[in-house]
Amino acid sequence: MIDFERVSKTYPGSDEPAVDDVTLHAPAGRTTVLLGSSGSGKTTLMRMVNRMIAPTSGRVLVRGVDVADQDPVRLRRSIGYVLQDGGLFPHRTVADNIATVPVLDGATRRRARARAMELMELVGLDASMARRFPAQLSGGQRQRVGVARALANEADLLLMDEPFGALDPLVRADLQRELLGLQRRLGTTILFVTHDIDEALLLGSRIVVLRAGGRIAQVGSPEEILSAPADDFVASFVGADSARRRLRVHGPAGARIVVDGDGRPVGVLDDLDADLDDEAGAGR
Ligand SMILES: Nc1ncnc2c1ncn2[C@@H]1O[C@H](COP(=O)(O)OP(=O)(O)OP(=O)(O)O)[C@@H](O)[C@H]1O
Ligand SMILES: [Mg+2]
Repeated sequence: MIDFERVSKTYPGSDEPAVDDVTLHAPAGRTTVLLGSSGSGKTTLMRMVNRMIAPTSGRVLVRGVDVADQDPVRLRRSIGYVLQDGGLFPHRTVADNIATVPVLDGATRRRARARAMELMELVGLDASMARRFPAQLSGGQRQRVGVARALANEADLLLMDEPFGALDPLVRADLQRELLGLQRRLGTTILFVTHDIDEALLLGSRIVVLRAGGRIAQVGSPEEILSAPADDFVASFVGADSARRRLRVHGPAGARIVVDGDGRPVGVLDDLDADLDDEAGAGR
């Protein structure tokens, strides 16, 4: 769905590249996570997908076509984009923010509004918020509006730049779960930026670990990244070498409490076989 081919970006006036020779495939219907610390080039990479930034060298293909050969307006409307800072229009209501693209695409006001209300429900926003302005919302509510707006154009491709940053853990977990469900239901292709390893492990079917200077350190499934980090940088970034990730099962048979390397409980071991039996029993 997205291909980066030897992509580099050096901003004018800078000696160091922000993105350095990145070759990467983000497959359709999957979530690819760009994981790296601040300044590692995540946003720069993402904004090259919808032509908001042009690569200095190399090319980016979306749906098999070089974005440089695509009409930028049409390209952007075909891609949902959740900005790092929310990026809502301050003088438009919540409903109007969400309905922006459908209205541009010629939907009637009535139809666009109905769609906005559906999406608000989907991301867990109360209908009473529809007439509020972004300044009258909490940070978490604003981020939900940003996600709803990105979903409104029913794009099969979604770019999400730290969409759940600055949220408290409960709201964040809630939105992560909703996104997982949505992605599975709709088969959306997602490119997701985060610097949070737990979020990357939860959401990513592939994780791309970036090091300083916008170079790829490793690409792999969550299991691969955790169990076979490519080098010390990846190991320490994902914490594979820290006590927190070295989990053991503790307690008498049947208790199955999972503890970390220091013996602190971190969870309860699920019986996978029983889960599978349940699902088979439910006819799935
Ligand atoms: N418009 C710009 N002009 C010059 N340099 C820039 C510009 N935008 C970003 N940079 C630089 O490019 C590098 C990568 O920035 P980028 O925003 O892609 O990082 P990031 O991984 O998204 O970081 P963060 O996690 O803080 O959002 C940084 O060193 C940054 O200072
Ligand atoms: Mg960024």
